[in-house]
Amino acid sequence: MAAESGEKWVLAVTAQTPTNIAVIKYWGKRDEDLILPINDSISVTLDPGHLCTTTSVAVSPAFTHDRIWLNGKEVSLSGGRYQNCLRELRSRATDYEDEKKGIKITKKDWEKLRVHIVSYNNFPTAAGLASSAAGLACLVFSLAKLMNVKEDHSKLSAIARQGSGSACRSLYGGFVKWIMGKEENGSDSIAVQLADEKHWDDLVIIIAVVSSRQKETSSTSGMRDTVETSALIKHRAKEVVPKRIVEMEEAIAKRDFPAFSRLACADSNQFHAVCLDTLPPIFYMNDTSHRIISCVEKWNRHEGSPQVAYTFDAGPNAVLISQNRKAATLLLQRLLFHFPPQSDADLDSYVIGDKTILKDAG
Ligand code: DP6
Repeated sequence: MAAESGEKWVLAVTAQTPTNIAVIKYWGKRDEDLILPINDSISVTLDPGHLCTTTSVAVSPAFTHDRIWLNGKEVSLSGGRYQNCLRELRSRATDYEDEKKGIKITKKDWEKLRVHIVSYNNFPTAAGLASSAAGLACLVFSLAKLMNVKEDHSKLSAIARQGSGSACRSLYGGFVKWIMGKEENGSDSIAVQLADEKHWDDLVIIIAVVSSRQKETSSTSGMRDTVETSALIKHRAKEVVPKRIVEMEEAIAKRDFPAFSRLACADSNQFHAVCLDTLPPIFYMNDTSHRIISCVEKWNRHEGSPQVAYTFDAGPNAVLISQNRKAATLLLQRLLFHFPPQSDADLDSYVIGDKTILKDAG
């Protein structure tokens, strides 16, 4: 180990990972520990400039425990999900050497060395903006760099998946599919890139932050209740999603916005329908979310073809995807007219994001 020299040293890596928004949703697990889903899902990865997690990871012989700070506050690392990711990464760590600094770490040393992790989200945590996706993807990516893990992104996605399901899709930019897989050990439940960030770069994503408050029902417990109590989820996972995945892949490949919009809106609405079909029912959207849906539906109908797609994750915030900059400008004008940010109960703010690639700032 570097400690050979007796010197104190710190080795650190910083990475930035954007969040992703599912246009065909993941909701429901068949294995809670390995985080294996009951259906495939498809997402679009956002621009890290706007909604991203920045994580610095460090290792030093002086560190006595693994520790993590999220948004400035130390939290426990004892949870099974963090531990699973750390275990998987440590077992794949390889030798590292920096002759100039006199640092040498062998594969065995990585088992003993402790890490410190500092992670910061530039957007509301747990408000239904997929903060865990960016957070866990960034954690796995930066630790993999630090520990000289040589696996490719798809293998890393299977590790990030064990931190939070949706995180596996944030390892790639552009359009990403999480294949549910068939294996019991989860080895084939991985993310693959369907199209890179340049493929459909006309799209503009606007996020209308209806509320930045933390949601009452976490995705993890919400989807567990749905799988246990909803009859509709079985129909969704077996009959509806497999067909939608094929159609969505085709819409993305052809840059067919009307098909893309129809599928994304329908899937968001069905996801919220299975939440309502859960016992007790889960209400992620609120009146403002419903008014945004009506507004977009009316506008799309008026234009004769979809200009904007909407999708809502496990929270009231609207993710609006416009066909191009012109449609995005008109959409913003409409939103500002109907939901002025200063008015009482309506929107907190707007965030504009584009699709982009994973940035390694290390
Ligand atoms: C509605 O990935 O946060 O955003 O795997 O339990 O950590 P866990 O859940 P999480 O669920 C995300 C649900 C969703 C849909 C999606 O991103 O596909």
